[in-house]
Amino acid sequence: RGRTLLIDNIGELSTQHLPDGDGQAVLGAGGSEAGVMRDAAVVLDGERIAWVGPSSSAPEADERFDSAGRAVLPGWVDSHSHLVFAGDRTAEFEARMAGEAYAAGGIGVTMGATRAASDDELRRLLAARVAEAVAGGTTYLETKTGYGLDVANELRSAALAAEFVDEVTYLGAHLVPAGADADEYTALVCGDMLAAVRPYVRWADVFCETGAFSEEQSRRVLLACREAGLGVRVHGNQLGPGPGVRLAVELGAASVDHVNFLDDADVEALAGSWAGWTGPASADSAAMAGTVATVLPACDLSTRAPLAPARRLIDAGVQIAIASNCNPGTSYTSSVGFCVTTAVLQMGLSVQEAVRAATFGGALALRRHVGNDVDGQRAVGSIAVGHRADLHMLNAPSATHLAYRPGMPLTHAVWRAGQRVV
Ligand code: NIG
Repeated sequence: RGRTLLIDNIGELSTQHLPDGDGQAVLGAGGSEAGVMRDAAVVLDGERIAWVGPSSSAPEADERFDSAGRAVLPGWVDSHSHLVFAGDRTAEFEARMAGEAYAAGGIGVTMGATRAASDDELRRLLAARVAEAVAGGTTYLETKTGYGLDVANELRSAALAAEFVDEVTYLGAHLVPAGADADEYTALVCGDMLAAVRPYVRWADVFCETGAFSEEQSRRVLLACREAGLGVRVHGNQLGPGPGVRLAVELGAASVDHVNFLDDADVEALAGSWAGWTGPASADSAAMAGTVATVLPACDLSTRAPLAPARRLIDAGVQIAIASNCNPGTSYTSSVGFCVTTAVLQMGLSVQEAVRAATFGGALALRRHVGNDVDGQRAVGSIAVGHRADLHMLNAPSATHLAYRPGMPLTHAVWRAGQRVV
Protein backbone atom coordinates (compact mmCIF):
# COMPACT_ATOMS: atom_id res chain seq x y z
CA ARG A 1 0.00 0.00 0.00
CA GLY A 2 1.37 3.44 -1.00
CA ARG A 3 0.32 6.81 0.36
CA THR A 4 -3.40 7.28 -0.14
CA LEU A 5 -5.16 10.42 -1.35
CA LEU A 6 -8.87 11.05 -0.99
CA ILE A 7 -10.32 13.39 -3.62
CA ASP A 8 -13.82 14.18 -2.42
CA ASN A 9 -16.69 16.60 -3.04
CA ILE A 10 -16.50 15.91 -6.77
CA GLY A 11 -19.54 17.60 -8.31
CA GLU A 12 -19.62 15.31 -11.35
CA LEU A 13 -17.42 12.26 -11.95
CA SER A 14 -17.32 10.90 -15.52
CA THR A 15 -16.29 7.36 -14.75
CA GLN A 16 -17.37 5.16 -17.63
CA HIS A 17 -17.39 2.61 -14.80
CA LEU A 18 -19.88 2.90 -11.95
CA PRO A 19 -19.18 1.62 -8.44
CA ASP A 20 -21.49 -0.72 -6.59
CA GLY A 21 -22.50 -0.30 -2.95
CA ASP A 22 -19.24 -1.72 -1.61
CA GLY A 23 -17.18 0.78 -3.50
CA GLN A 24 -15.96 -1.96 -5.80
CA ALA A 25 -16.05 -0.90 -9.41
CA VAL A 26 -18.50 -2.55 -11.72
CA LEU A 27 -19.20 -1.54 -15.25
CA GLY A 28 -21.78 1.03 -16.18
CA ALA A 29 -24.69 0.28 -18.43
CA GLY A 30 -22.56 0.79 -21.55
CA GLY A 31 -23.88 2.64 -24.56
CA SER A 32 -21.95 5.50 -26.07
CA GLU A 33 -21.80 7.83 -23.05
CA ALA A 34 -19.50 7.86 -20.07
CA GLY A 35 -21.10 6.82 -16.78
CA VAL A 36 -21.59 9.84 -14.52
CA MET A 37 -21.83 10.05 -10.72
CA ARG A 38 -22.69 13.15 -8.74
CA ASP A 39 -21.24 14.05 -5.30
CA ALA A 40 -18.53 11.47 -5.73
CA ALA A 41 -15.12 10.69 -4.29
CA VAL A 42 -12.08 8.76 -5.46
CA VAL A 43 -9.23 7.31 -3.41
CA LEU A 44 -5.82 6.98 -5.03
CA ASP A 45 -3.33 4.49 -3.62
CA GLY A 46 0.05 5.11 -5.21
CA GLU A 47 -0.40 4.77 -8.97
CA ARG A 48 -3.77 3.00 -8.79
CA ILE A 49 -7.38 3.90 -8.09
CA ALA A 50 -8.33 2.18 -4.84
CA TRP A 51 -11.92 3.29 -4.28
CA VAL A 52 -14.74 5.10 -6.15
CA GLY A 53 -18.08 5.99 -4.61
CA PRO A 54 -20.34 8.57 -2.97
CA SER A 55 -18.45 11.33 -1.22
CA SER A 56 -20.58 10.79 1.89
CA SER A 57 -19.24 7.25 2.42
CA ALA A 58 -15.63 7.80 1.40
CA PRO A 59 -12.98 6.09 3.52
CA GLU A 60 -10.18 7.90 5.38
CA ALA A 61 -6.90 8.45 3.56
CA ASP A 62 -3.45 9.85 4.31
CA GLU A 63 -4.24 13.09 2.49
CA ARG A 64 -7.35 14.84 1.28
CA PHE A 65 -8.06 17.08 -1.73
CA ASP A 66 -11.37 18.95 -1.56
CA SER A 67 -12.75 19.27 -5.11
CA ALA A 68 -15.27 21.91 -3.98
CA GLY A 69 -17.87 20.62 -6.43
CA ARG A 70 -15.63 20.54 -9.49
CA ALA A 71 -15.97 17.96 -12.26
CA VAL A 72 -13.47 15.11 -12.63
CA LEU A 73 -12.88 13.09 -15.79
CA PRO A 74 -10.40 10.39 -16.68
CA GLY A 75 -7.27 12.03 -18.12
CA TRP A 76 -7.47 12.33 -21.90
CA VAL A 77 -6.09 9.33 -23.79
CA ASP A 78 -4.62 10.82 -26.96
CA SER A 79 -4.35 7.85 -29.31
CA HIS A 80 -3.06 9.69 -32.39
CA SER A 81 -0.22 12.20 -32.55
CA HIS A 82 2.98 12.85 -34.51
CA LEU A 83 5.21 14.68 -32.04
CA VAL A 84 8.69 13.77 -33.30
CA PHE A 85 9.44 16.58 -35.70
CA ALA A 86 11.38 19.78 -36.22
CA GLY A 87 10.66 22.74 -38.47
CA ASP A 88 7.67 24.89 -39.22
CA ARG A 89 4.88 24.74 -41.82
CA THR A 90 3.24 28.11 -41.19
CA ALA A 91 3.56 29.07 -44.85
CA GLU A 92 1.73 25.92 -45.93
CA PHE A 93 -1.01 26.64 -43.40
CA GLU A 94 -1.36 30.22 -44.67
CA ALA A 95 -1.61 28.98 -48.25
CA ARG A 96 -4.31 26.56 -47.16
CA MET A 97 -6.28 29.28 -45.46
CA ALA A 98 -6.00 31.21 -48.74
CA GLY A 99 -7.67 28.32 -50.53
CA GLU A 100 -5.07 25.68 -51.36
CA ALA A 101 -5.95 22.08 -50.60
CA TYR A 102 -3.94 19.95 -48.15
CA ALA A 103 -1.70 17.43 -49.89
CA ALA A 104 0.62 14.89 -48.32
CA GLY A 105 3.73 16.47 -49.87
CA GLY A 106 4.34 18.73 -46.89
CA ILE A 107 5.45 15.65 -44.96
CA GLY A 108 8.67 15.82 -47.02
CA VAL A 109 9.34 19.37 -45.77
CA THR A 110 9.11 18.19 -42.16
CA MET A 111 11.23 15.16 -42.99
CA GLY A 112 14.06 17.45 -44.11
CA ALA A 113 13.88 19.60 -40.98
CA THR A 114 13.64 16.56 -38.71
CA ARG A 115 16.63 14.83 -40.26
CA ALA A 116 18.63 18.05 -39.87
CA ALA A 117 17.83 18.43 -36.15
CA SER A 118 20.15 17.08 -33.46
CA ASP A 119 18.99 14.48 -30.95
CA ASP A 120 19.02 17.11 -28.23
CA GLU A 121 16.94 19.51 -30.30
CA LEU A 122 14.36 16.77 -30.95
CA ARG A 123 14.35 15.89 -27.25
CA ARG A 124 13.75 19.51 -26.32
CA LEU A 125 10.87 19.76 -28.81
CA LEU A 126 9.34 16.49 -27.65
CA ALA A 127 9.53 17.46 -23.99
CA ALA A 128 7.84 20.80 -24.70
CA ARG A 129 5.06 19.17 -26.72
CA VAL A 130 4.38 16.51 -24.11
CA ALA A 131 4.31 19.19 -21.41
CA GLU A 132 1.72 21.15 -23.42
CA ALA A 133 -0.42 18.04 -23.78
CA VAL A 134 -0.25 17.24 -20.05
CA ALA A 135 -1.11 20.84 -19.18
CA GLY A 136 -4.38 20.34 -21.09
CA GLY A 137 -5.29 17.14 -19.25
CA THR A 138 -3.69 14.43 -21.38
CA THR A 139 -2.37 11.57 -19.23
CA TYR A 140 -1.81 8.82 -21.79
CA LEU A 141 -0.17 9.58 -25.09
CA GLU A 142 0.60 7.72 -28.29
CA THR A 143 2.95 9.17 -30.87
CA LYS A 144 4.23 8.09 -34.25
CA THR A 145 7.47 8.10 -36.16
CA GLY A 146 7.11 9.09 -39.80
CA TYR A 147 9.27 12.16 -40.36
CA GLY A 148 12.53 10.19 -40.58
CA LEU A 149 11.75 8.00 -43.57
CA ASP A 150 15.09 6.24 -43.74
CA VAL A 151 16.40 3.51 -41.47
CA ALA A 152 18.63 5.70 -39.29
CA ASN A 153 16.08 8.48 -38.84
CA GLU A 154 13.07 6.24 -38.24
CA LEU A 155 15.12 4.39 -35.63
CA ARG A 156 16.12 7.69 -34.03
CA SER A 157 12.50 8.90 -34.02
CA ALA A 158 11.25 5.67 -32.44
CA ALA A 159 13.94 5.64 -29.76
CA LEU A 160 13.39 9.30 -28.84
CA ALA A 161 9.62 8.92 -28.79
CA ALA A 162 9.94 5.96 -26.43
CA GLU A 163 11.69 8.25 -23.94
CA PHE A 164 8.68 10.58 -23.73
CA VAL A 165 5.35 8.85 -24.46
CA ASP A 166 3.37 5.79 -23.39
CA GLU A 167 2.98 4.16 -26.80
CA VAL A 168 5.07 4.46 -29.97
CA THR A 169 3.75 3.71 -33.44
CA TYR A 170 6.00 2.98 -36.43
CA LEU A 171 4.92 5.09 -39.42
CA GLY A 172 7.75 4.48 -41.88
CA ALA A 173 4.91 4.26 -44.42
CA HIS A 174 3.99 7.93 -44.08
CA LEU A 175 5.27 9.11 -47.48
CA VAL A 176 7.55 7.75 -50.17
CA PRO A 177 10.53 10.16 -49.93
CA ALA A 178 11.07 12.24 -53.07
CA GLY A 179 13.25 10.40 -55.57
CA ALA A 180 12.68 6.96 -54.02
CA ASP A 181 10.99 4.14 -55.89
CA ALA A 182 7.66 3.37 -54.18
CA ASP A 183 8.00 -0.41 -54.24
CA GLU A 184 11.63 -0.37 -53.16
CA TYR A 185 10.79 2.01 -50.34
CA THR A 186 7.86 -0.20 -49.28
CA ALA A 187 10.22 -3.17 -49.16
CA LEU A 188 12.57 -1.17 -46.93
CA VAL A 189 9.67 -0.28 -44.60
CA CYS A 190 8.81 -4.00 -44.37
CA GLY A 191 12.43 -5.09 -43.96
CA ASP A 192 15.46 -3.32 -42.50
CA MET A 193 13.52 -0.30 -41.21
CA LEU A 194 11.00 -2.48 -39.37
CA ALA A 195 13.79 -4.56 -37.84
CA ALA A 196 15.54 -1.40 -36.62
CA VAL A 197 12.52 0.21 -34.93
CA ARG A 198 10.96 -3.02 -33.63
CA PRO A 199 12.39 -2.82 -30.07
CA TYR A 200 10.82 0.61 -29.49
CA VAL A 201 7.34 0.29 -30.96
CA ARG A 202 4.08 -1.49 -30.15
CA TRP A 203 2.11 -0.41 -33.24
CA ALA A 204 2.52 0.08 -36.97
CA ASP A 205 0.54 2.51 -39.08
CA VAL A 206 0.33 3.31 -42.78
CA PHE A 207 -0.95 6.37 -44.65
CA CYS A 208 -3.22 4.57 -47.12
CA GLU A 209 -4.21 7.36 -49.47
CA THR A 210 -3.75 8.58 -53.03
CA GLY A 211 -0.39 10.36 -52.99
CA ALA A 212 0.94 8.19 -50.16
CA PHE A 213 0.62 4.35 -50.11
CA SER A 214 -1.68 2.31 -52.34
CA GLU A 215 -3.93 -0.43 -50.96
CA GLU A 216 -1.47 -3.07 -52.15
CA GLN A 217 1.54 -1.35 -50.61
CA SER A 218 -0.37 -0.67 -47.40
CA ARG A 219 -1.41 -4.31 -47.11
CA ARG A 220 2.21 -5.40 -47.56
CA VAL A 221 3.40 -3.06 -44.80
CA LEU A 222 0.65 -4.01 -42.37
CA LEU A 223 1.11 -7.74 -42.92
CA ALA A 224 4.87 -7.52 -42.42
CA CYS A 225 4.42 -5.51 -39.24
CA ARG A 226 1.73 -7.83 -37.92
CA GLU A 227 4.01 -10.78 -38.66
CA ALA A 228 6.70 -9.01 -36.60
CA GLY A 229 4.31 -8.90 -33.65
CA LEU A 230 3.08 -5.31 -33.91
CA GLY A 231 -0.54 -4.26 -33.58
CA VAL A 232 -1.71 -2.38 -36.66
CA ARG A 233 -3.64 0.82 -37.37
CA VAL A 234 -4.34 2.80 -40.52
CA HIS A 235 -4.62 6.43 -41.66
CA GLY A 236 -7.60 6.00 -43.95
CA ASN A 237 -10.22 7.88 -45.99
CA GLN A 238 -8.77 11.28 -45.05
CA LEU A 239 -8.43 12.98 -48.42
CA GLY A 240 -11.08 11.10 -50.34
CA PRO A 241 -13.00 7.84 -50.56
CA GLY A 242 -10.67 4.84 -50.61
CA PRO A 243 -9.73 1.39 -49.38
CA GLY A 244 -8.25 2.38 -45.99
CA VAL A 245 -11.23 1.60 -43.79
CA ARG A 246 -11.99 -1.76 -45.35
CA LEU A 247 -8.32 -2.75 -45.30
CA ALA A 248 -8.12 -1.85 -41.62
CA VAL A 249 -11.14 -4.01 -40.80
CA GLU A 250 -9.90 -6.86 -42.98
CA LEU A 251 -6.56 -6.95 -41.16
CA GLY A 252 -8.04 -6.55 -37.67
CA ALA A 253 -6.53 -3.11 -37.12
CA ALA A 254 -7.15 -1.63 -33.68
CA SER A 255 -8.13 1.67 -35.29
CA VAL A 256 -8.59 3.49 -38.54
CA ASP A 257 -8.02 7.20 -38.18
CA HIS A 258 -9.38 10.28 -40.00
CA VAL A 259 -12.42 8.57 -41.67
CA ASN A 260 -13.65 11.75 -43.36
CA PHE A 261 -14.91 10.13 -46.56
CA LEU A 262 -17.02 7.07 -45.79
CA ASP A 263 -19.55 5.23 -47.89
CA ASP A 264 -22.23 2.85 -46.61
CA ALA A 265 -19.96 -0.18 -47.03
CA ASP A 266 -17.24 1.46 -44.91
CA VAL A 267 -19.66 2.15 -42.08
CA GLU A 268 -21.07 -1.38 -42.33
CA ALA A 269 -17.59 -2.89 -42.25
CA LEU A 270 -16.67 -0.89 -39.14
CA ALA A 271 -19.95 -1.75 -37.41
CA GLY A 272 -19.51 -5.41 -38.34
CA SER A 273 -16.12 -5.48 -36.66
CA TRP A 274 -17.90 -4.77 -33.34
CA ALA A 275 -20.66 -7.33 -33.80
CA GLY A 276 -19.16 -9.93 -31.46
CA TRP A 277 -18.04 -7.49 -28.79
CA THR A 278 -19.87 -7.79 -25.51
CA GLY A 279 -18.49 -4.58 -24.03
CA PRO A 280 -15.66 -3.61 -21.78
CA ALA A 281 -16.71 -6.00 -19.00
CA SER A 282 -16.14 -9.22 -20.88
CA ALA A 283 -13.01 -11.24 -20.16
CA ASP A 284 -12.02 -11.26 -23.81
CA SER A 285 -12.81 -7.57 -24.21
CA ALA A 286 -9.49 -6.74 -25.87
CA ALA A 287 -9.37 -9.84 -28.05
CA MET A 288 -12.93 -9.36 -29.34
CA ALA A 289 -12.71 -5.60 -29.86
CA GLY A 290 -13.19 -4.36 -33.40
CA THR A 291 -11.66 -1.48 -35.33
CA VAL A 292 -12.11 1.85 -33.55
CA ALA A 293 -12.89 4.79 -35.85
CA THR A 294 -10.71 7.64 -34.62
CA VAL A 295 -11.95 11.09 -35.50
CA LEU A 296 -9.58 14.06 -35.48
CA PRO A 297 -11.69 17.22 -35.24
CA ALA A 298 -8.80 19.72 -35.06
CA CYS A 299 -7.33 18.25 -38.24
CA ASP A 300 -10.68 18.46 -40.00
CA LEU A 301 -10.91 22.16 -39.15
CA SER A 302 -7.28 22.94 -40.02
CA THR A 303 -7.53 21.24 -43.41
CA ARG A 304 -11.08 22.47 -44.05
CA ALA A 305 -12.09 18.88 -44.68
CA PRO A 306 -15.62 17.58 -44.32
CA LEU A 307 -15.98 16.68 -40.64
CA ALA A 308 -15.73 12.96 -39.95
CA PRO A 309 -19.25 11.52 -39.51
CA ALA A 310 -18.86 10.73 -35.82
CA ARG A 311 -22.61 10.82 -35.09
CA ARG A 312 -23.37 8.40 -37.90
CA LEU A 313 -20.63 6.04 -36.74
CA ILE A 314 -21.89 5.95 -33.15
CA ASP A 315 -25.45 5.42 -34.32
CA ALA A 316 -24.27 2.50 -36.47
CA GLY A 317 -22.72 0.82 -33.42
CA VAL A 318 -19.08 1.72 -34.11
CA GLN A 319 -16.80 2.51 -31.17
CA ILE A 320 -15.09 5.84 -31.82
CA ALA A 321 -12.12 7.69 -30.37
CA ILE A 322 -11.33 11.39 -30.46
CA ALA A 323 -7.63 12.33 -30.71
CA SER A 324 -5.54 15.43 -31.34
CA ASN A 325 -3.45 14.29 -34.34
CA CYS A 326 -0.91 16.87 -33.18
CA ASN A 327 1.48 17.35 -36.12
CA PRO A 328 3.01 20.30 -38.00
CA GLY A 329 0.99 19.84 -41.19
CA THR A 330 -2.67 19.26 -40.48
CA SER A 331 -3.28 19.80 -36.77
CA TYR A 332 -0.72 21.70 -34.73
CA THR A 333 -2.49 21.34 -31.41
CA SER A 334 -2.33 18.73 -28.67
CA SER A 335 -5.51 20.04 -27.06
CA VAL A 336 -7.85 17.08 -26.75
CA GLY A 337 -10.20 19.45 -24.89
CA PHE A 338 -10.50 21.54 -28.06
CA CYS A 339 -11.26 18.37 -30.02
CA VAL A 340 -13.97 17.38 -27.54
CA THR A 341 -15.49 20.85 -27.74
CA THR A 342 -15.52 20.65 -31.53
CA ALA A 343 -17.03 17.17 -31.52
CA VAL A 344 -19.92 18.48 -29.43
CA LEU A 345 -20.44 21.79 -31.22
CA GLN A 346 -19.86 20.60 -34.77
CA MET A 347 -20.20 16.81 -34.97
CA GLY A 348 -23.43 16.28 -33.07
CA LEU A 349 -22.04 14.35 -30.09
CA SER A 350 -23.33 14.81 -26.58
CA VAL A 351 -20.75 16.01 -24.07
CA GLN A 352 -20.50 12.63 -22.38
CA GLU A 353 -20.20 10.85 -25.72
CA ALA A 354 -17.30 13.11 -26.63
CA VAL A 355 -15.68 12.69 -23.20
CA ARG A 356 -16.02 8.93 -23.51
CA ALA A 357 -14.47 8.94 -27.00
CA ALA A 358 -11.48 10.99 -25.78
CA THR A 359 -10.86 8.79 -22.75
CA PHE A 360 -12.27 5.27 -22.94
CA GLY A 361 -12.38 5.41 -26.76
CA GLY A 362 -8.69 6.31 -26.98
CA ALA A 363 -7.87 3.53 -24.54
CA LEU A 364 -9.88 1.09 -26.64
CA ALA A 365 -8.03 2.22 -29.77
CA LEU A 366 -4.77 1.42 -27.95
CA ARG A 367 -6.16 -1.74 -26.34
CA ARG A 368 -5.43 -0.28 -22.90
CA HIS A 369 -9.07 -0.11 -21.75
CA VAL A 370 -8.49 -3.23 -19.66
CA GLY A 371 -5.42 -4.28 -17.72
CA ASN A 372 -2.99 -6.26 -19.76
CA ASP A 373 -1.70 -9.37 -18.02
CA VAL A 374 1.11 -9.74 -20.52
CA ASP A 375 3.03 -6.65 -19.50
CA GLY A 376 1.21 -5.91 -16.25
CA GLN A 377 0.04 -2.49 -17.42
CA ARG A 378 -2.99 -0.93 -15.74
CA ALA A 379 -6.13 0.02 -17.65
CA VAL A 380 -6.47 3.69 -18.59
CA GLY A 381 -9.31 5.85 -19.89
CA SER A 382 -11.88 5.13 -17.18
CA ILE A 383 -12.16 5.61 -13.45
CA ALA A 384 -12.50 2.30 -11.65
CA VAL A 385 -10.76 0.33 -8.91
CA GLY A 386 -7.43 -1.06 -10.09
CA HIS A 387 -7.14 1.29 -13.03
CA ARG A 388 -4.26 3.73 -13.37
CA ALA A 389 -4.91 6.86 -11.33
CA ASP A 390 -5.15 9.30 -14.27
CA LEU A 391 -7.57 12.11 -13.39
CA HIS A 392 -8.43 15.45 -14.96
CA MET A 393 -10.20 17.97 -12.73
CA LEU A 394 -11.96 20.89 -14.40
CA ASN A 395 -12.41 24.31 -12.94
CA ALA A 396 -16.12 23.84 -13.62
CA PRO A 397 -18.99 21.90 -12.06
CA SER A 398 -19.59 19.65 -15.07
CA ALA A 399 -17.98 18.41 -18.26
CA THR A 400 -20.69 20.32 -20.13
CA HIS A 401 -18.61 23.43 -19.56
CA LEU A 402 -16.05 22.09 -22.06
CA ALA A 403 -18.57 22.86 -24.79
CA TYR A 404 -20.51 25.61 -23.04
CA ARG A 405 -17.34 27.68 -22.49
CA PRO A 406 -15.31 26.88 -25.62
CA GLY A 407 -11.66 27.87 -25.55
CA MET A 408 -11.53 28.58 -21.83
CA PRO A 409 -8.61 27.10 -19.85
CA LEU A 410 -10.70 24.74 -17.73
CA THR A 411 -7.99 22.32 -16.56
CA HIS A 412 -7.66 22.76 -12.78
CA ALA A 413 -5.57 19.75 -11.72
CA VAL A 414 -4.20 16.59 -13.32
CA TRP A 415 -2.98 13.35 -11.70
CA ARG A 416 -0.99 10.93 -13.84
CA ALA A 417 -0.38 7.47 -12.37
CA GLY A 418 -1.25 8.98 -8.99
CA GLN A 419 1.21 11.87 -9.25
CA ARG A 420 -0.10 15.42 -9.36
CA VAL A 421 1.36 16.84 -12.60
CA VAL A 422 -0.73 20.02 -13.01
O1 NIG B 1 -2.45 12.48 -39.73
N1 NIG B 1 -2.24 12.18 -42.88
C1 NIG B 1 -1.11 11.92 -42.65
N2 NIG B 1 -0.37 12.32 -41.62
C2 NIG B 1 -0.65 13.48 -40.83
C3 NIG B 1 -0.25 14.73 -41.51
C4 NIG B 1 1.20 14.81 -41.69
C5 NIG B 1 1.73 16.10 -42.24
O2 NIG B 1 1.13 16.73 -43.12
O3 NIG B 1 2.82 16.45 -41.79
C6 NIG B 1 -2.10 13.45 -40.40
O4 NIG B 1 -2.88 14.35 -40.72
